[in-house]
Amino acid sequence: EAKLNTKVLGRKIQIMETTTSTQVDAMTQAESGTEEGALFIAEQQSSGRGRLGRKWFSPAGKGIWMSLVLRPELPIRYMPQLTLLTGVAVCKAIRSVTGAEAAIKWPNDILIHGKKVCGILLESATEDNKVKYCIAGIGIDVNLSAEDYPEELTEIATSLKLETGHTIDRALLIAEILNEMELLYNRYTSEGFTPIQVEWEEHSVSIGQAVRTETLTETIQGVAKRLDPSGGLVIAAPSGEERVVYSGEVEII
Ligand code: BTN
Repeated sequence: EAKLNTKVLGRKIQIMETTTSTQVDAMTQAESGTEEGALFIAEQQSSGRGRLGRKWFSPAGKGIWMSLVLRPELPIRYMPQLTLLTGVAVCKAIRSVTGAEAAIKWPNDILIHGKKVCGILLESATEDNKVKYCIAGIGIDVNLSAEDYPEELTEIATSLKLETGHTIDRALLIAEILNEMELLYNRYTSEGFTPIQVEWEEHSVSIGQAVRTETLTETIQGVAKRLDPSGGLVIAAPSGEERVVYSGEVEII
């Protein structure tokens, strides 16, 4: 049974049948002052947004498409830490509700058996080098069947239903995500990034793997070692030289 234990996150929820993107709804409301923790959920999005300018496939009734308003007192440069925190919360919730072996691919894709089951998009508005508000967008393929996927996604995406063999209660999963996220968020506020960093590494598929990433000017290839204190991924080249990646896509090879 769904049990929301939070004080702040998800205490105000707006559920919509259809919207363009819950990111836009949350951002509009955050601009006009809505409180921290306000949650926007849609059954379907007509223009779901992904990272790096991509589209997010958001069919009706089968996923969790939601955006959460956060108002952390944080310098802009710490935003990536919040992104990683969200990934840990969602990964833990998926594991505990479904039993699936979910793991995080840097920075915050959630994979099961190498296929993506969830994407996370953090967008923020800033003022004087500080975060004014931040919108944590979470998209989870919950009850999609194989035939629900367009051709181009079948190889790379999966759903909780496909991985576990049964239908998952979305309300239960949403409640668990919010519970986990509030715990981590409080911990982050009181203890800083270190405990989050440790948990992220424990839940990650990236650490210890051979990875490759392209920057504008070069290709960095090596073994993913750990997170650096600001949330970047440390990659050790065969020469032993360490590089840190702060944005973009890191492919496991
Ligand atoms: C990614 O590219 O992996 C991030 C995908 C984020 C999708 C979610 S669904 C709810 C929220 N609304 C959006 O338009 N995007 C995010």
